[in-house]
Amino acid sequence: MIFTVAIDGPAAAGKGTISRAVAQRFGFAHLDTGLLYRAVGAKGGDPVVAAQTLTPADLMRDDLRSMAAGQAASRVAVIPAVRAALTDFQRRFARQPGGAVLDGRDIGTVICPEAEVKLYVTASPEVRAHRRWLEVGGDEARVLAEVIERDARDMGRDDAPLRAAADAVVIDTSALDSDAAIGRAISIVQAAIAMDRAHGPR
Ligand code: C5P
Repeated sequence: MIFTVAIDGPAAAGKGTISRAVAQRFGFAHLDTGLLYRAVGAKGGDPVVAAQTLTPADLMRDDLRSMAAGQAASRVAVIPAVRAALTDFQRRFARQPGGAVLDGRDIGTVICPEAEVKLYVTASPEVRAHRRWLEVGGDEARVLAEVIERDARDMGRDDAPLRAAADAVVIDTSALDSDAAIGRAISIVQAAIAMDRAHGPR
């Protein structure tokens, strides 16, 4: 079965938690595409060369989850040649047999507009900053400022800006706990799989 679940949205909205749960529930492969941009940003040197020569080992660095790595990722992610270097890999991953979940910023709009399910997971900047602050600590106002700065860069760039695809289902997690958000996503995917099966094998 070729079946892609595209999950987009801003930082700390809950995409990762939902993606992992959906992948586990349906036995789909999962790709956190933010990790690709984080690895490019962390590699240093020319970001285009870094993207063109990215290796699995680059994705295993243990410093990719920091706030600084997120900011570095969003700075290299505005460069069209960096995005282009990462496109084929993501597209192949999305259409692999057996099903795939990809989370990022442009999966439903650019990488896989033909995805069978598109979710846009969001929450207010304050709620997202609070969640991130619980993980990283420090000054909560500064975490909020970084969230807002990253949103602005990701939504304002010319190439593949963050936005919901026209046919995406929006899940606002501001007032949802993770079990409720996961439950909503799973029932949407379940319904789409049933519809896909009803239309015959591909
Ligand atoms: O999702 P995560 O916070 O790990 O993403 C880090 C950064 O990578 C984002 O802020 C964004 O600039 C970039 N990104 C992107 N397209 C994706 C995934 C991430 O531009 N599909």
